[in-house]
Amino acid sequence: MTDDLLRVHGGHPLRGEIRVRGAKNLVSKAMVAALLGDSPSQLHDVPRIRDVEVVRGLLELHGVKVTEQADSLVLDPSNVDTAKVDEINVHAGSSRIPILFCGPLLHRLGHAFIPDLGGCHIGDRPIDFHLAALRQFGAIVDKAPEGLHLTAPGGLHGTKFELPYPSVGATEQVLLTAVRAEGVTELRNAAVEPEIVDLICALQKMGAIIKVHTDRVIEIEGVPRLRGYNHRPIPDRLEAASWACAALATHGDITVRGARQVDMMTFLNVFTAVGGAFEVDDAPGGGVRFWHPGEELRPVAIETDVHPGFMTDWQQPLVVALTQARGLSIVHETVYERRLGYTDALNAMGATIQLYRDCLGGTPCRFGRRDFKHSAVIAGPSKLHAADLVIPDLRGGFSHLIAALAAEGNSTVYGVSLIHRGYEDFEAKLTALGAAVSA
Ligand code: EPU
Repeated sequence: MTDDLLRVHGGHPLRGEIRVRGAKNLVSKAMVAALLGDSPSQLHDVPRIRDVEVVRGLLELHGVKVTEQADSLVLDPSNVDTAKVDEINVHAGSSRIPILFCGPLLHRLGHAFIPDLGGCHIGDRPIDFHLAALRQFGAIVDKAPEGLHLTAPGGLHGTKFELPYPSVGATEQVLLTAVRAEGVTELRNAAVEPEIVDLICALQKMGAIIKVHTDRVIEIEGVPRLRGYNHRPIPDRLEAASWACAALATHGDITVRGARQVDMMTFLNVFTAVGGAFEVDDAPGGGVRFWHPGEELRPVAIETDVHPGFMTDWQQPLVVALTQARGLSIVHETVYERRLGYTDALNAMGATIQLYRDCLGGTPCRFGRRDFKHSAVIAGPSKLHAADLVIPDLRGGFSHLIAALAAEGNSTVYGVSLIHRGYEDFEAKLTALGAAVSA
């Protein structure tokens, strides 16, 4: 399939300006939240990525009228209706977002069907927290070969729930269910990523009452009705960090318009420690400029974590830059047990990355003393050489692309359509940055 590969003539610094738009991991959830309103919602700065298309398709199957206005989507939920199981299964594709339809559909229709979930293969990614929370709200979950059928014969009622781990998706599940459940919900050990806070802002605009307490406690007072929202999402800090790492790995200089310092503070600390330089432009329409200042990069020891820790999605592009640092870097991945598989391809390109089952360099995590190679030691600097690469998952895939851009010679990257799930127009952005790429 010629349209699913990219030929990269690497070894040139990426220089120039690109723009990031609304965060993938907020936009898709805010689109689901529109189901809860009794009037249309308007979401601005929506990126053209595959995950947005999938959620749009699912919403349309459920009777939501979706119209585009410049870079915004208007989502009108006046005629929400049941969708056919086989059509949902066809449209859900590779996304994990369908699980978040549970609460809103139970409120709107009294029942919901959730297909088998897709998403990147970076760990088992169970949905046990989601289902336990939904059951506590009063949902009945029937597992069938084609997916999950949910009903709530007695309605959904506020509850007290403590997450075993601060899961982003399960926190969103509780929020999207609790806002219209009868009574008060208290969620303990909640995730508090900026995308979650932004979802709370959108829900608050709809009329929801949500208090974020200290120590990861969120309290939601259910209300009988919600209206539509008008919301401009936070920018995509994951995409911004990917471009920052691309600048570092290629000795380049990239200004990411739309990126905000406040969402990237932890990343910027590590970026500086490695030897990268950045400059913030706070003016409207501004962004962050990231560049390689010329001196040799330094190794770091990092551990991925929930917010405000170092995001797991920043890890893969950073590792490519770390292959260019002099000395030993350590990366301990504590969020997903299998998120280092992409390093095999980097080794094949000349990197020296060794994986370990132990929790290296930090506090023991859930995956220690088990069969998961979730720590990496990266020895650098390594001269990367061109290779044929097959994209394994979204972030790992983008890091392969960065490696191909950093390596001298001609690489072919297969399966690039996976990158379209989360990176808008990345081929055009690469060209704008002076990369020699072609389909
Ligand atoms: N987990 C469970 N049971 C559950 C839910 C989660 O054990 O019911 C575990 C997961 O297996 C994982 C950990 O909890 O080990 C964290 O998972 P979480 O639920 O926080 O992740 P998610 O909601 O599925 C979102 C993003 C991911 C991002 C993580 C962490 C979306 C669509 N996805 O996933 O983004 O890495 O939070 O911040 O928002 C990406 O954008 O490429 C991506 C994978």
